[in-house]
Amino acid sequence: MSNQKPILQALSRETPDRIPIWLMRQAGRYLPEYQKIRANSGSFLDLCYAPDLAAEVTLQPIRRFGFDAAILFSDILVIPDALGQKVEFLQGEGPCLDPINNEAGYSSFKPEQVVDYLAPVFETVAKVKAGLDQQTTLIGFCGAPWTVATYMVSGKGTKDQAEARIWAYRDPAGFGGLIDILIESSILYLKEQVKAGAEVLQIFDTWAGSLSESERAKWCLAPLEKIAGAIKKEYPNVPITAFLRGAPSSFDALKSMDVIDCVGIDTATPAELAARIVQPSKCIQGNLDPLALLAGGAALEHETDHVLEAFGSAPFIFNLGHGILPETPIAHVERLVEKVRAAG
Ligand code: CP3
Repeated sequence: MSNQKPILQALSRETPDRIPIWLMRQAGRYLPEYQKIRANSGSFLDLCYAPDLAAEVTLQPIRRFGFDAAILFSDILVIPDALGQKVEFLQGEGPCLDPINNEAGYSSFKPEQVVDYLAPVFETVAKVKAGLDQQTTLIGFCGAPWTVATYMVSGKGTKDQAEARIWAYRDPAGFGGLIDILIESSILYLKEQVKAGAEVLQIFDTWAGSLSESERAKWCLAPLEKIAGAIKKEYPNVPITAFLRGAPSSFDALKSMDVIDCVGIDTATPAELAARIVQPSKCIQGNLDPLALLAGGAALEHETDHVLEAFGSAPFIFNLGHGILPETPIAHVERLVEKVRAAG
C-alpha cells in the first residue's frame, strides 16, 4: 500500500512525489500571527495548554507556507512541569526551573502523571489532525531524556550542560534514576500523542553533543533505543526521527537501531558525510543553516542548493540544521519553499 503523504513516503523509503519540507520550530516568533496570539494568551505554558490556541498556532505556518508537516505546538519542558517541577518561561530569558541535583529532588515524580496532566496537549493533537489536509503529516515530539535533564538539573539553558554532566559522573545511579523517570514519561507522552493522531514522532536531543562518546552511549543512545522500542512495540508503523545535535560520531549506532527510521542532521555536520553513512539505510532530515535562511540572498541560494545536491536523490526530508530564528524574514522562508518545490 502506498502512502499519499510525501513525508510518510520519504520515511518509508518510497520515492516521494516531491521533496518534502518542514522546519524545526516553524511555529513561533518570526510569524506576526504567532506573536499576536502569544501576546494575548498569558504565559508560554498557558498557550501550550490551551488546545484551541495551540492548534491554531500549529496550523499557522502550514497555511502560510504549505509545509508538508505540522509539528505539535508544545515544548520539551512540559514533561518536568507535568512531573511537578516548577517550570516557567521568562520573557527574554528562556526556561527557568527549580534545579534538581540529587535523588530527593525527583523522588516524588510519577511518570503516570503525564497522561492526565498533559491531556490538553493531546487534545491539541486531535484538533490539529482534524484541521489538516490529505498531504500534510502531523508530527508529535518529546525532548530526549538527556536534553530534558540538562534543563531540570541546571534550572535553565546553559552553554556546556556542566551540572548534569558532573552529576552523571559523580553519581551515575542517582542521575540514572532521573533519566529512567524521563524514559518512562516520554514513552507515555509519545504513546498518547499517537493515540490522539500523531503520525510521526521526533525525539529532540539538542545537547547530545556535549557528552563524551561513552557518556552519550549511556545517556542518549540507550534511552533513545528504549523509548523508540517501546513505541514500536505498540505502534510498529509510526516512523521515529532522532535528532542528536552535535553527535555525528553516533551515526553508526543510529544506523544500526532498527527502531529509528530517520536521522536528523545538524548544521555543522557535512551533508556528504551524513549522506554516505546514514542514507543507504535510513531517511535523512536536515540540514540548512538557520543563519543562511536568516541572511537570505546568495548565501541562501547556494546553501540550499548544496543541501539538495547532497541529499536529494535518496530518502530525504528538507529541514534546517536547528530551529528557525525569531529574526528570520518571512520572504526568505517563502523563497526557500519555492526553491525546494522547484527541485521536485
Ligand atoms: O514549532 C515547533 O517546532 C513546535 C514547538 C516547539 C517549541 N519548542 C516551541 C517553543 C518545539 C518542537 C520545541 C522544542 C524545544 N524546546 C527544544 C528542542 C529543539 C531545539 O530547538 O533545540 C528545546 C531545547 C526547548 C526548550 C526551550 N523552549 C527553550 C530553550 C526555549 C527558550 C528559547 C526560545 O527559543 O525562546 C523555549 C521556548 C519556546 N519553545 C518558544 C517556542 C515557540 C518561544 C517562547 C515564546 O514564544 O515566548
